[in-house]
Amino acid sequence: MNKLAIIGGTGLSTMENLEIIRREIVQTPYGEPSAPLAYGKIGNCDVIFLPRHGYGHTLPPHKINYRANIHALKDAGATHVLAIAAVGGIHSDMGAKRIVLPDQIIDYTHSRINTYFEESLTHVTHIDFSYPYSEYVRNKIIAASKKLKIDIATKATYAATQGPRLETAAEIAKLEKDGCDIVGMTGMPEACLARELGLEYACLAVVANLAAGKSDEELTMEMIKANLKEGMENTQKIVAEVIAKM
Ligand code: HPA
Repeated sequence: MNKLAIIGGTGLSTMENLEIIRREIVQTPYGEPSAPLAYGKIGNCDVIFLPRHGYGHTLPPHKINYRANIHALKDAGATHVLAIAAVGGIHSDMGAKRIVLPDQIIDYTHSRINTYFEESLTHVTHIDFSYPYSEYVRNKIIAASKKLKIDIATKATYAATQGPRLETAAEIAKLEKDGCDIVGMTGMPEACLARELGLEYACLAVVANLAAGKSDEELTMEMIKANLKEGMENTQKIVAEVIAKM
């Protein structure tokens, strides 16, 4: 049976339409996840919710224990993961508040543990990561947004950067040359760890700001939060519709 887990990102540490039934502190062989897992319901459907940065949004992207997070969701019985993320917009189509469903990712992070396959190996494992996001979950999201008449971008390359600082204008220009459309700090290694554990994983991103050098405005957390508020409202509607259809 399908069981959906939602990983909430910046601007979505709690979900308004999630009725929490219980919270559970869990341990994994890789340590503790970012927060206790919340088991609950959206409508009539069971979901597991995990805020990536903790309930108080205290964990910066490079300090998140991605292995523990994904392992905890797998242990809890999740089969599918819908990861919500805040991003900066690089391509001119990716304006503030836009909801984006990336289909590709380029990993620019470093010094993050990015595999479960490193100790006690009987053989070396290389997962196929040509298409990093689950087409099944992506198609459910596309169908849900069409039904709700919420316009989303369904093709985009996500640049995963190290953070926690935002990028320089020159770095964004380089990412754009590389073919990246949006930029965020948490897309990797989350996506590849989910693939290693056989979870069907997709990311739904909300553009919080135009990336560095793409606007004359100074990038502030206040601006990011204000833009996210509106985008996250529609994102939650899409999530509820996806769950109902799974
Ligand atoms: N860069 C990286 N990550 C982000 C950004 C950004 O501009 N906005 C929100 N997350």
